[in-house]
Amino acid sequence: MRTKIVAGNWKLNKDKEGSKSLIKELKKAIQENPLQDTRVIVAPTFVNLSASVKAAKKSKIEVVAQNMHQAINGAYTGEVSADMLKAIGVATVILGHSERRTYFNETDAALAEKMNTVLEKEMEAIFCFGEVLEDRKSGNHFAVVESQLKNALFHLEGKDWSSIILAYEPVWAIGTGETASADQAQEMHAFIRSIIEKQYSTAVAEAVSILYGGSVKPSNAEEIFSKPDVDGGLIGGAALSVADFVGIINAI
Ligand code: G3P
Repeated sequence: MRTKIVAGNWKLNKDKEGSKSLIKELKKAIQENPLQDTRVIVAPTFVNLSASVKAAKKSKIEVVAQNMHQAINGAYTGEVSADMLKAIGVATVILGHSERRTYFNETDAALAEKMNTVLEKEMEAIFCFGEVLEDRKSGNHFAVVESQLKNALFHLEGKDWSSIILAYEPVWAIGTGETASADQAQEMHAFIRSIIEKQYSTAVAEAVSILYGGSVKPSNAEEIFSKPDVDGGLIGGAALSVADFVGIINAI
């Protein structure tokens, strides 16, 4: 049985008290409403990570980073390393978000190196990927997704996949209110699982949690999460409201 996961990517939002107060509110909501064995994850900005880890203590909320550099240390101004994250109690990192790929030119090759560092440091990654609207319109979306996964992940061994959570995020659905339909999500998730099975094994493919991200709201989460190959969601805007975020978690 794959782990169900709902992760909130707070992006460049809720700085200052926001992250801590959001976590306090989320903690209370979760205590009042145990959420079975669903993993509940939040990703604050770097400056709020340490305080958020402390605020989440003694709760089931996991605090993760939104990015990480592949270098162990060195002259990389403005970057954060795996050891720095582990030193403040962060063991999981979001990698390859489309905003990193678009605005910061993160390539598949750089993401492959980041994945190698995640594994070397015995961390876990939420690996993001997905097509842009032009790819979808031209019917190229399967090829694009396959190449993103192959270029960044298929050099790994089967055993490494226990440290990977996949997050399929069609770029045209991120922040647009234009959500992929539950059938579109299922079709792509099943395709992703099939190429992992071909590359590795049925066991590896069946074990990996594949999240959907892109305008998930309490109103559409239940239908999307009901699909057999959708194991949860990576949530942006709706994760900034505890009521909406808990509503999405309860939809699993
Ligand atoms: O990483 C999750 C994010 O990209 C989805 O954003 O606002 O469409 O839920 P949103």
